Amino acid sequence: MIEIKNLSKIYFASGQEILALDDVSLTVQKGEIFGIIGLSGAGKSTLIRCINMLEKPTRGSITVDGRDITLLGQQELRLARQKIGMIFQQFNLLSSRTVFDNVLFPLEIARVPRPEAAKRVQELLELVGLTDKAGMHPDQLSGGQKQRVGIARALANGPKLLLSDEATSALDPQTTRSILKLLKDINRQLHLTILLITHDMNVIKEVCDRVAVIDNSRIVEVGDVLEIFSNPRTPTSHSFVNAVISREVPVELLHSSTERSGGTASKLIRVSFIGASAGKPLISSMIRRYNVDVNIIYGNIDRIKDTPFGNLTLEVLGYPGLLQEALDYLHGQGLEIEVLRNA
Ligand SMILES: Nc1ncnc2c1ncn2[C@@H]1O[C@H](COP(=O)(O)OP(=O)(O)OP(=O)(O)O)[C@@H](O)[C@H]1O
Ligand SMILES: [Mg+2]
Repeated sequence: MIEIKNLSKIYFASGQEILALDDVSLTVQKGEIFGIIGLSGAGKSTLIRCINMLEKPTRGSITVDGRDITLLGQQELRLARQKIGMIFQQFNLLSSRTVFDNVLFPLEIARVPRPEAAKRVQELLELVGLTDKAGMHPDQLSGGQKQRVGIARALANGPKLLLSDEATSALDPQTTRSILKLLKDINRQLHLTILLITHDMNVIKEVCDRVAVIDNSRIVEVGDVLEIFSNPRTPTSHSFVNAVISREVPVELLHSSTERSGGTASKLIRVSFIGASAGKPLISSMIRRYNVDVNIIYGNIDRIKDTPFGNLTLEVLGYPGLLQEALDYLHGQGLEIEVLRNA
């Protein structure tokens, strides 16, 4: 759907050159929800604004649905932009227009005949759950409702691609979840490709299929969200993942240990779960099979999009031979095991 090759963007401001994007290459597949995460100033907005040519790239190509949009003339670009919707952190609604007229606006610009446009607006308001707010003005709406208007407006011309620049950053966590759910629903229902940028790993965790990490104007890591969560390879990804899923066991817990009876050994292990194995009672079956005791030290179980994911730190106590077999059993069931301490 989107193919970015060797994209660079240099801004000139007060006699200085600012390299905002440095040789960025990226592919976004049709129908996926792709996230780009990075700290403030990393270049996220610049990247997303280049994709609809709100910002002109300094170098490189951007192919959207088979056409290099950096090569389009004004008229062609105007048409291409109608097929790319965009939503913003600050909603960017027209305050003098009603909700209905805000959603109507892009259809007026595209010169869609009034009866057809009005019908379309009704459908969109229904889709985003705002039918009863059609006659209100933006300042009479909550942040979440404003963003719903923003989404309806972005979908007005039936885009194939939706770009989201921090669309949930101004919202509270619960409203954020409801907006993300709406994005997930329209991605499925309308087969819409969504590219979103955020500094919040929770957003990535909630909706994205794949993610790219941008750091200091460069893409430093790209992969499936599950893969990045379970195995972040760069320090930047690591700190984003840790902000959401705490993998590090607090030190005082690492050094505490349960009293053992004679002849038994103990191992402190971290078990990581992804997907189907999280739904199986593997720990209890290990306890029965190998006659070990388990003490839960620390844990974190969560969902990434629709897949269970997490890690548990356990102290496993038992007779040495059986203890090793017990861990081999968990490993054999597809769990990732890391021994943190042997005693
Ligand atoms: N119009 C501009 N003129 C000059 N420099 C700019 C302009 N827009 C952005 N920059 C600079 O480019 C770099 C990247 O900015 P960008 O807005 O893309 O970051 P961002 O990742 O979106 O940050 P944030 O999370 O704070 O929105 C920054 O150093 C910024 O100061
Ligand atoms: Mg930004």
